[in-house]
Amino acid sequence: MMNAHSVSFATLALLCSTSVLAQTAPSPEARAAATAASMTEDERVILTNGILAIPLIPGMKMPEDAVVGSGYVPGVPRLGVPSLKETDATLGVAWEFGLRKNDDGATALPAGPAIGSTWNPALARKGGEVIGAEARAKGFNVMLAGGVNIIRDPRNGRSFEYISEDPLLSGLIAGEAVAGVQSNHIISTVKHFAFNGQETQRSFVNSLISEKNGRESDLLAFEIAIERGNPGAVMCAYNRVNGPYACDSDWLLNKVLKRDWRYKGFVMSDWGAVPGLHAASNGLDQQSAAMLDKANFFGKPLKDAAAKDPAMAARLKDMNQRILYAIYANGLDTNPSVKGPRNKAAGLATAEAIAKEGIVLLRNEHDVLPLTANARSIVVIGGYADTGVLSGGGSSQVQGEGGPVAAIPVGGDGPMAFLAQEQYHRSNPLRAITTQARGAKVSFQRGNNVGEAADAARKADVAIVFATEWRTEGTDSFDLALPNGQDQLIAAVAEANPNTIVVLETGGPVLMPWLNKTAAVLEAWYPGARGGEAIASILFGQTNPSGHLPLTFPASLDDLPRRTIEGERTNTLAPGGDKPNVEVNADYNIDGSDVGYRWNARKGKTALFPFGHGLTYTSFAYDDLRITGGKRVTATFTVRNTGAREGADVPQLYLVSAVGRKLQKLAGFDKVSLKPGEARKVTITVDPRIIAEWDTDANGWRIGAGSYEFALGASASTLKQAARVRLSAQRLKP
Ligand code: GLC
Repeated sequence: MMNAHSVSFATLALLCSTSVLAQTAPSPEARAAATAASMTEDERVILTNGILAIPLIPGMKMPEDAVVGSGYVPGVPRLGVPSLKETDATLGVAWEFGLRKNDDGATALPAGPAIGSTWNPALARKGGEVIGAEARAKGFNVMLAGGVNIIRDPRNGRSFEYISEDPLLSGLIAGEAVAGVQSNHIISTVKHFAFNGQETQRSFVNSLISEKNGRESDLLAFEIAIERGNPGAVMCAYNRVNGPYACDSDWLLNKVLKRDWRYKGFVMSDWGAVPGLHAASNGLDQQSAAMLDKANFFGKPLKDAAAKDPAMAARLKDMNQRILYAIYANGLDTNPSVKGPRNKAAGLATAEAIAKEGIVLLRNEHDVLPLTANARSIVVIGGYADTGVLSGGGSSQVQGEGGPVAAIPVGGDGPMAFLAQEQYHRSNPLRAITTQARGAKVSFQRGNNVGEAADAARKADVAIVFATEWRTEGTDSFDLALPNGQDQLIAAVAEANPNTIVVLETGGPVLMPWLNKTAAVLEAWYPGARGGEAIASILFGQTNPSGHLPLTFPASLDDLPRRTIEGERTNTLAPGGDKPNVEVNADYNIDGSDVGYRWNARKGKTALFPFGHGLTYTSFAYDDLRITGGKRVTATFTVRNTGAREGADVPQLYLVSAVGRKLQKLAGFDKVSLKPGEARKVTITVDPRIIAEWDTDANGWRIGAGSYEFALGASASTLKQAARVRLSAQRLKP
């Protein structure tokens, strides 16, 4: 504490000037209110609607300052308000059919579940920083990133864009990634708000969910992501929620997001997701790509409505204030994006770091991995491993420098089917394995001739089979099976060689009928721009795997809450390919907030591989778990590396019973890197919303008085220590 005598004149002068400065720099809220108040009637409906900034429509004239990308919203030059130049998406700057002239591509981050598998929010933030910087270097100032829908159905075609089945893990990872994107003075979204759980009939499907179930699952993921990342915008989803469209849902947009969560930014629609002008009254602030809807509701119709109806005039002012708040809070006007070179090396290094931490070692019988000098002959089979690594399709498709090394048309009859290509990034697993193999003889088999592949495997010391499963926006993976006869290929190779290692490049969980015949299985997801190098680094032990599953691999489709995905499949690629007005319900009240591992815990089912699972080349032990109560529940325990090499572990804390009710909820986790023999004390503070239940009548969270049991584990199914704590009753605001 300073006293008058000790403060010099210079310090006083500085204090005065900064306090004066502090008084003259108006807040983003104040600036937004002032700008909105000075808008003319015509200017008030400029920011409220945008266009698809892709000259796909013959004769379409692109605005002068637009950048070819997902969207463009004009600014208001008279008031110094910049236009919004929007690009996809969560995994990197999208390619938009390669229409940007002289574009040098972008860094393709590994898929969302890979980022989730790192359980490393700080690394997720670095990924956001990289893709945000690249968006900025390409002239964009809005990134449609932050895909945070919990992976409620493992067959969801967009699972590769999302992070986890768990709301805490999803929210923390997505929130940090969004913060990383926005650190570049560009707006990021979080999306798709909310309950966007399948691609089948996505423009018509009605997600059924009670308030309690929703608040404790999907909505909690968004709530945590918004708290952590402070996104300038929220993108509402295509689907209906309990009847109304998500972009027209007074409950979701006005009550949950703006009233309860006190969200200050704006809600933009998904592309072609606006049912009418009434959506403005229900909380929608901006109509994206208006030409994809039946009309530009948020243009002249909105202006006319505001001229006649004071309530709509007030709503329109709020719409502008929210958009302006996001612009000012992220410095889009004071730090405009300027086109320039992107830092390719930094992008590739971050993509590789995420891939290395995100690859999950699922199985490693008799320590066949890491490969050693004893592996004198290695045959690599299938999965285009001699070409590149797989990526996911749809609006989030990223392409590296020079575009895809291979693009395999998928066909289909939907209006966007021409987009459907299985694309491979220029990262070559075979080359990376050969480099790491230090003199061993490495050969390749395409895998399209099972007999030949099995013969080659029989003659080798080790067989590494790559298997791919392509997923895309617009359709779902209906059976979780590896396509194109890969199951038969793996089974034949494993029959021929007991040292068969399977490397999966999938967009989500898959079934593995051949599992017990194999020696090792790696889940590499879509491993991104340096995926081949990361896979080889783990196979040969240069990297000690530390990935842990962010979602359950079910043992059978019969174990899922919904045995089939509701809805009629009319083509291979939506949007626009859905059969109009087919009433389809996705009943999410079946599992409610018990998604994934929580469902298995409730039903006593055993996963093929459980949530949180991941093997390592060392070993860890936990000790001395203690739980203390009070305002916040705190857990402390010790993690020790009991193996022979350095490695990182993800100890997971689960709530396993609450006032006598058995359940399972991830309550916290840490990522701990330890040298052999090293031990560290870990402290986890539990978010009270994980312990609480949602009380719909009180519109808030409630913790009942009584005993709560927590367990520490290396996965949802390997709980090692437990401890109880008594808590007093508590109520929390939303
Ligand atoms: C899409 C997606 C959304 C994307 C938008 C713009 O259909 O649902 O994630 O950001 O359109 O491409």
